Amino acid sequence: MSKLVKNQLQANVPNAWTPTFESTIAKALNAEIWDTEGNRFLDYVGGYAVLNTGHVNPKVIDKVRNQLDDFTHSCFAYAPHQNAIDVCTEINKRYPIESETKTFLVNSGAEAVENAIKIARYYTGKQHIVAFKGGFHGRTYMAMGLTGKENPYKMGFGPFPDFISHTDFPYGYRGMSDDQALETFEKHIQSIGEDSIAAILIEIQLGEGGYIPASNIFLMELKKIAQAKDILLIFDEVQTGFGRTGEMFGASTVGVSPDLATLAKGIAGGFPLAAVVGKSEIMDSIHDAGIGSTFGASPVSCAAALGVLEVFDEENILGNVKNHALIMNESLLSLQADNNFIGDIRGYGTMIGVEIVEDIKTKIPSKEIAMKIIGQSKDNGLLLVNCGLEGNVIRFMGPLTTPDEQVNEAMEMFTKSVSAI
Ligand SMILES: Cc1ncc(COP(=O)(O)O)c(C=O)c1O
Repeated sequence: MSKLVKNQLQANVPNAWTPTFESTIAKALNAEIWDTEGNRFLDYVGGYAVLNTGHVNPKVIDKVRNQLDDFTHSCFAYAPHQNAIDVCTEINKRYPIESETKTFLVNSGAEAVENAIKIARYYTGKQHIVAFKGGFHGRTYMAMGLTGKENPYKMGFGPFPDFISHTDFPYGYRGMSDDQALETFEKHIQSIGEDSIAAILIEIQLGEGGYIPASNIFLMELKKIAQAKDILLIFDEVQTGFGRTGEMFGASTVGVSPDLATLAKGIAGGFPLAAVVGKSEIMDSIHDAGIGSTFGASPVSCAAALGVLEVFDEENILGNVKNHALIMNESLLSLQADNNFIGDIRGYGTMIGVEIVEDIKTKIPSKEIAMKIIGQSKDNGLLLVNCGLEGNVIRFMGPLTTPDEQVNEAMEMFTKSVSAI
């Protein structure tokens, strides 16, 4: 990044929003990014797990271009359009909830979470929401309150909305087994009183919290408890949706279906769109105009979402995920065998997290080594970011449309970066 641009950035953008990538993007295509100085990178940040179908996917761009010729906004609640109706129809067909579903479209993951909570509280007539330590649900006040990671998301921003509490997410590598997490969970809901709990909100795999997957057994038990106590189960699939876990949605990967789910990120190939999908009985319980959004269901974003679905239908994206996950796991496991600071490798599909520690015996988290590897990777042409409560997990969020050769190339770059530590 030139000195001039750096100065302009510093003068005009708040410090807290200063980008970590110190280059200005000039062009991007599928999994590749070029900066204004002509450097080429493989993008395993993927706009923070948004570009599942790659940068400027031709099918997505085609749909968007066609829509731009017709109209760009209508406010769906007043003037409906076919694109949004088709997106809702397709999500209802595809999202694995056993009974009939309905879908409501908004702009961002946080807005989807806000609305899922509104709907759950309204339908159940109860107030309390149980969320998980390490969970991330967005930056608006309810979403922040639900987030279980203090620094940097909540620090100094409280107080948060009432009637939210957090319980343990299973984390086998650090001694929190499924059984222990379930035991804590049961005690937790007893202490709150099940009659006051509207919903349980959980990510199938923690994103910001460290790429920690929840098992099928844990989620099944959670569902059983929720059903027995008339508590709704909400899956926050903002990050796990649209192929990343190996199936179209994380609920299929774990074989457990929720009452409501939130979707965003990969839904529209980089255009802002998000959704709440849920059982029709629940979604229809809200009074007329009780939910809505001016920009939600943008015809342009919905056109992009239809392009994304076309990519999934016509290209073997889920097959790619399986291939990529094989290539990545093989390479990462062999790196782990040679480096005693690689503590754990885990995750569904290509949603892989590499937990970095000082030493595999002490398991002391090492953000320092993780950031060194990330820095080396950038120097070698691979873009990565970290996550986790201690910031010591390196995560992979590349496009699911990345050609196999580039997945191999990314792994070579990562190996070179780890070897330099
Ligand atoms: C699981 C999860 N929920 C919600 C959000 C918030 O989404 P947005 O940034 O679109 O508001 C995110 C964003 O990273 C997320 O990963």
